[in-house]
Amino acid sequence: MRLTYTSDLWWKNAVVYCLDVETFKDGNGDGVGDFRGLTQQIDYLAGLGVTCLWLMPFFPTPNRDDGYDITDFYSIDPRLGTLGDFVEFMRTAHDRGLRVIADLVVNHTSDRHPWFKESRRSKDSPMRDWYVWSDKPEPDDPEQVVFPDKENSVWQYDKGSGQYYLHSFYRHQPDLNVGNPEVRDEITRILGFWMELGLAGFRVDAVPFLIENVDPELADPHEFLADLRAFMTRRKGGSILLGEVNLPYRDLLRFFGEGLGDQLTMCFDFIGMQNSWLSLARNSARPLMNALKDRPRAPKDCQWAMFLRNHDELTLDKLTEEERQEIFEAFGPRKDMQIFGRGLRRRLPTMLGGDLRRVKMAYSLLFSLPGTPVIFYGEEIGMGENLDEEGRLAVRIPMQWSEDGGFSQSPDTVREVPEGSFAPDRVNVADQRRDTDSLLRWFQLLIERYRECPELAWGQYTVLDAGDDAIFVHRCDADGATVVVAHNLCDTARDVELRLDGLEHCDLTDLLVDGTLKVSADGTVKLALDPHGCRWLRASPPELPPEDASVMSQ
Ligand code: NOJ
Repeated sequence: MRLTYTSDLWWKNAVVYCLDVETFKDGNGDGVGDFRGLTQQIDYLAGLGVTCLWLMPFFPTPNRDDGYDITDFYSIDPRLGTLGDFVEFMRTAHDRGLRVIADLVVNHTSDRHPWFKESRRSKDSPMRDWYVWSDKPEPDDPEQVVFPDKENSVWQYDKGSGQYYLHSFYRHQPDLNVGNPEVRDEITRILGFWMELGLAGFRVDAVPFLIENVDPELADPHEFLADLRAFMTRRKGGSILLGEVNLPYRDLLRFFGEGLGDQLTMCFDFIGMQNSWLSLARNSARPLMNALKDRPRAPKDCQWAMFLRNHDELTLDKLTEEERQEIFEAFGPRKDMQIFGRGLRRRLPTMLGGDLRRVKMAYSLLFSLPGTPVIFYGEEIGMGENLDEEGRLAVRIPMQWSEDGGFSQSPDTVREVPEGSFAPDRVNVADQRRDTDSLLRWFQLLIERYRECPELAWGQYTVLDAGDDAIFVHRCDADGATVVVAHNLCDTARDVELRLDGLEHCDLTDLLVDGTLKVSADGTVKLALDPHGCRWLRASPPELPPEDASVMSQ
């Protein structure tokens, strides 16, 4: 096996599972999820096959933005447990071979953080410059306001000290001034602290906002990211930064560290995600094909992180108004399903009308797209949302473990699960473990195959024209090994003919179901796809068993 494909660059083909400790499993019966509960469920996660857990914020918080408003970066929210519980959790996760990363939310703090309390005390406070203050703020650009339902400005007047402070998000989340070297040092210390407790890296919240406060006259804003990454690598090789950077591709490369790849290790592919949804709405491969063709190559050793849903709204902000409306119409026509005018507060299976075949196809697409898949807890069993919960919390509902919920012994839980066809008696882990056709089993299979096909994540990918708009086909080539993947976005069966240059005479072995196809002498092959069908095909020369044709066998 070539050294490249060892786990040195583990993030290249990791399977990342995002969860919120608060809603995953309650271990002490008080109705709130906690580290003890999570620790009990680690074998479930290991069995699913995921390789890295991403924990949403678990720090002390007044909880006015579901934990993204922090009052102490060096401890655990008492509702979720103690530092002791955290260490036990880390120890168990490592024992089962799982890496753990956590949200790093340092663009802002809670306004109740002692740093802000000190900073707002007076203009002469020694911590005044830790935040961004102004006598006369710049006029607001409506584009800058991230939560337009609650805020109409990013500046808030502070009566006590007579100046305005910047808050890119809610007014109770003042922005830290990372232009200040003391703030940078403190952020670095936070990273060091949690790495010492075993974290393999961080999902960095709101990266463009984080560095925008650095005055480019004084320092290169991107140097801060490079410094953080260098610090982490010094402390522990192979630690990563996974960045939330929702920007057009052309602006994104800088965040990896153009050419060098020395800043964010991975960036979420927001453009690919939004175009996947447009493809699903239109039953047409075109939008996704175009996005992947436009997508720049991540620098060597960096990677794109692929996702369909996350803990926030399904943001459609990078599409045109008409495209957005098409998706609203297809997947969230009611006003109460929409949010901020730009997104949907729904989970994937409800948007796809609970059509299991289509849901399975969508996840097959996710796991086969070039990059590292990131899933949100509950996606593996097809959980729905609860629109009775406020705003984005609709998708952050308790994990559905069993028929009666199984999240907590308490009748009074942190949030409510939905009623109806997505209620726990219809959608839960226990039932799906016993059902070989379940979505959970499908996820296990996809994860297993994804891990066995490093070509998908590592390879050079090419989007192929199948001559049929409804069919999305791509191939991934790495060091002479090839995997070809086809998806039928529509609900009728299709036959397509593909041209596979360089694979003349090869066998194509179906990795999801049994069956082999032969590529003809002129490099073409006919492929049949069921309604919403998907096929992952490994190419092998006729004299070689398919399992020996993997890049892993070289
Ligand atoms: C992005 C996070 O994903 C979101 O949930 C949060 O509200 C904002 N950043 C502010 O931290």
